[in-house]
Amino acid sequence: MKKMLLTATAIVVAGAFVLTGCSSDRNGGAGGNGGEKSGEPKAGFAADARIGVALPDKTSENWVLAGQLFTDGLTKAGFKPDVQYAPASNTVAEQQNQIQAMVTGGAKVIIIGAKDGKQLSTQVEAAKQAGAYVIAYDRLIENTTAVDYYVAFDNFKVGQLQGQALLDGLAKNAGHAAPYNIELFSGSPDDANSKVFFDGAMDVLQPKIDDGTLKVLSGQTEISQTATDGWKAENAQRRMDSILTSTYGSANLDGVLSPNDTLARAIITSVQQAGKKVPVVTGQDSEVESVKSIMQGVQYSTINKDTALLVEQAIKMVGELQKGEKADVNDEKQYNNGKKVVPAYLLDPVIVTKENAAEAYKNVPSLLKIVESFQ
Ligand code: BGC
Repeated sequence: MKKMLLTATAIVVAGAFVLTGCSSDRNGGAGGNGGEKSGEPKAGFAADARIGVALPDKTSENWVLAGQLFTDGLTKAGFKPDVQYAPASNTVAEQQNQIQAMVTGGAKVIIIGAKDGKQLSTQVEAAKQAGAYVIAYDRLIENTTAVDYYVAFDNFKVGQLQGQALLDGLAKNAGHAAPYNIELFSGSPDDANSKVFFDGAMDVLQPKIDDGTLKVLSGQTEISQTATDGWKAENAQRRMDSILTSTYGSANLDGVLSPNDTLARAIITSVQQAGKKVPVVTGQDSEVESVKSIMQGVQYSTINKDTALLVEQAIKMVGELQKGEKADVNDEKQYNNGKKVVPAYLLDPVIVTKENAAEAYKNVPSLLKIVESFQ
């Protein structure tokens, strides 16, 4: 219903799509459209065109899965996919080279999961010059007018769901009444999503910090203090180790906001190694090891962002563009990249705990099987 309303709104405003310095943007951008009218139909292109897919390094299982799904799905739709991952080292430069090579190779659409969304403007502008469409996939590409569309799960809602899960988990599992001691983690600063996830979570948690229900004993509540470079497990584990040593000698840690599953497991390992009770820990991505951990009652929650659905939506956009149509979007407000509001198609994320796991994964057979093996 919400999506239908958004789509209807999108249709109404599409005719006179004037970009304002939108006050509700999630990325603090400057507004303005730099003379571009995104979403304007260009001519279509050949039904067997080359489509580039540039993915970042494999910092979580969803990226690994996306590559295979893009290769299979684009091939099935009749296109010639060129799927590339940035390697784990020298990632930004390699991804820039890969995108440039896709442009030179004549790709008609380039789908990009950015390693660093702020460092791709030269390459996406070259794509635009060559007449290709650019779709930002999962992570926004910032500070350029040359990105045509964004397709992602609703990142702000992901954060809100994580914040709410932390509160619910504390009420259920902390074993005592408020106040609860918590710590906060956020993702990599070069990923535009990290701030949106954190802002969504703080939208729920900040009022509870303000009224004394939650206490961040380390005092580290700024995103710059909570960041995890490169989304790397070892960085989160090191930060948790150091907070436990400096702050939790005798105090109990009741909960941790973790932005994804890889970091959640690193945080849990740190606490276990310190010989402390595992706190309520959130996550995201429904990674296999985390789903098992949730079913064992260790990690508290994750988020189901079904990669198959996101890839399917991106391929649907490619199909619309191929026919010379505009791609369908359901949000033209939230994602100001600093140069324009990028028309977006946002999918709905789902919170998963032990209680609702079977229902949440009813359409994801591989995860449902894991859940059922614990029941
Ligand atoms: C994705 C998350 C993922 C993280 C690290 C983010 O941009 O949205 O799903 O956990 O990157 O790979």
